[in-house]
Amino acid sequence: MARQQDGSYVISTHREITDVLNDPHLSSDVRNLSGPLPSDEPPSSFIHMDSPEHDRLRRLAMRQFGPPHTPGLVNGLEGFLTATVGRLVDGLADQERIDVVDDFAFPLPLAVTCHVLGVPREDEPRFHRWVHDIMDSVDYDPATDPKEKRDRGVRAREDLRRRLGELVAQRHGRPGHGLLSRLANDDGPDGRMTDADIVATAKLLLVAGHETTVNLITNGMLTLLRHPDVLRRLRDDPDLVVPLVEELLRYEPPVHIIPWRAAYSDITVGDTVIPKGSQITLMLASGSRDPDRFHDPDRFDPDRTDNQHLGFGSGIHLCFGGPLARRETQIALTELARRLDGPALVADPPPYRRSPVLRGPVRLDIRQGGKCA
Ligand code: HEM
Repeated sequence: MARQQDGSYVISTHREITDVLNDPHLSSDVRNLSGPLPSDEPPSSFIHMDSPEHDRLRRLAMRQFGPPHTPGLVNGLEGFLTATVGRLVDGLADQERIDVVDDFAFPLPLAVTCHVLGVPREDEPRFHRWVHDIMDSVDYDPATDPKEKRDRGVRAREDLRRRLGELVAQRHGRPGHGLLSRLANDDGPDGRMTDADIVATAKLLLVAGHETTVNLITNGMLTLLRHPDVLRRLRDDPDLVVPLVEELLRYEPPVHIIPWRAAYSDITVGDTVIPKGSQITLMLASGSRDPDRFHDPDRFDPDRTDNQHLGFGSGIHLCFGGPLARRETQIALTELARRLDGPALVADPPPYRRSPVLRGPVRLDIRQGGKCA
């Protein structure tokens, strides 16, 4: 752990990151930081809330998203995932040059999350545009970027919120396919979610589940092209994809950093007392390459068996969409490996996004030797 000049603390070992993420004295609500606050608004979605409100909203959402109440969600998506990946790979067939990000990885998670939410097909292009503009504005830098980039992001958030609100209002009393409809009509043991919470949760799934999955697929393709022996093995043995995706989450994780948690009270980490209100930054990617936890940590090894990586975080905020992201990426990489013809990187390294938090290429250009099968 290291104390920074600004008084914040950076934690980078596997053990300490895991301990801190499971410590109930840590807050995800920015209002618990000391000093000038970036916002004093109450958080709108549960990723920035603490117990018990976080737990209640997560339970309400999870009732419709996974076990024990909806255990078949990811399995039930198998046909949709396979068809959507197949359609996207078909679209690459005649292209000698492909940008894996724009042509494949970006549209996939968006189509999947819209399907899971029950967003009408005709709305998908604008959801695509809004999520694009939101993600594009995340690393806005006033020193170098036009103000329009930030304004587009603000407008897109507002348009997305408004359209989701309309869809939720239409779903009342009409239980049917999709999470929006099920949340709007569910009276479980915790009661019903308010419309504002349903909208905030849907936005969270669209945003938290998007660039992360884009990056896992893109980082995965990049890593496979840098390890042609593994790419060949995956073509011959598709079952390899399961440990391979786990190893990608460790070796090239889409979320490098949890930029902050706030200490509710003084907490002790190792020999250090971290004062109440301090900002704590968790270096997940570094923890997943901690030599005290992983053998030969800088080696990409899809045969690794002891692989408790931090790719999805840990503790009460452990990624909500992990099982979906895993299956989506497994199907995507298997199909890309099987059907791309002699793919090769055009530039290595590719250009990266500026964000230190979410790591992935802006574009990943590859050349095909011939055509897709
Ligand atoms: C490879 C893809 C993904 C990665 C690497 C990833 C990573 C993470 C990480 C590290 C966290 C913890 C954040 C924290 O502790 O502050 C998180 C939380 C979350 N993720 Fe993911 N995620 C991925 C995909 C998804 C998908 C597909 C969805 C939904 C469709 C999703 C929804 C969420 C939500 C709702 C949370 C907040 C959970 C909570 O606060 O209880 N994620 N994710």
